Amino acid sequence: MRIDVLTLFPSVFEALLAHGQLRIARDKGLLEVRCHDFRAFAVDRHKSVDDRPYGGGPGMVLMCGPIYDCDEQVTTEGRAAGLGEGPRRLLMSPRGRRLDQPLLEELAREPWLLLLCGHYEGVDERVRLGLGHEEVSVGDYVLSGGEVPAMAVIDGVGRLLPGVLGAPDGAHDDSFSRAGRLLEGPQYTRPRTFRGMEVPEVLLSGDHGAVARWRAQQAHDETRARRPDLLGAAAGARDAAAGTTPDTLNTTAMPRGAGEPTGPAHARGEEGASRP
Ligand SMILES: C[S@@+](CC[C@H](N)C(=O)[O-])C[C@H]1O[C@@H](n2cnc3c(N)ncnc32)[C@H](O)[C@@H]1O
Repeated sequence: MRIDVLTLFPSVFEALLAHGQLRIARDKGLLEVRCHDFRAFAVDRHKSVDDRPYGGGPGMVLMCGPIYDCDEQVTTEGRAAGLGEGPRRLLMSPRGRRLDQPLLEELAREPWLLLLCGHYEGVDERVRLGLGHEEVSVGDYVLSGGEVPAMAVIDGVGRLLPGVLGAPDGAHDDSFSRAGRLLEGPQYTRPRTFRGMEVPEVLLSGDHGAVARWRAQQAHDETRARRPDLLGAAAGARDAAAGTTPDTLNTTAMPRGAGEPTGPAHARGEEGASRP
């Protein structure tokens, strides 16, 4: 996959791309990310990319010209490299479609993305109208620029590319992912006892079926407690298709509370419990 990023601050992406799963994706040739400073396409001697808003008001608005020219060069180069007719264009914007796991999964199937990072008060509307960007938001809050939202897209997409995660289907059971779109349950690693808190017995049992049932039940319980909105009809239908609905869980084999961690109450988040 190729991702072109149009930004005034290309260097802020360097650290993200140099570490972890994105680095692995790039090293394996599964992901290529190119950042382009559209200020290089400014035409005046001050290298201006923004101007005052028509109609008045505070702040500055990013102008069409440098963004169009940068987009055109990037698109022409990508076409010449055989990436296709054009990229799927996303404009990072608070008013856009909310970024979520299904959207990341959809984007991860694209061969070529172009992410435009706004700044200041935003981007002249004719950029989106003329170039056909879809607007994508990372949430109902306002950041100073589109770079952090673009990084969320790159990171979320990059780890979904086949071959990036160690296990073949490593992201399948993650929160919000295809295994029912639920939250993931709790995880434990060594040591077995830490400050009086024990790892749930079932995870030490070696019984893979019991572990799977416990994890499915935990995922359902966590989701019901924290995000009941995710337990809608659609998620239920997907659970049923995957055979992991709470109704199909073997609750006889795994009574409620079995496998709960033992230890101090604060470790289990019980009401009134305080940390030492
Ligand atoms: C300060 S914001 C502009 C906010 C705009 N005036 C508004 O009220 O919606 C500057 C840029 O940051 C990016 N941005 C800020 N918050 C965002 C969010 N929640 N999701 C995606 N992009 C965001 C966008 O690219 C935006 O053009």
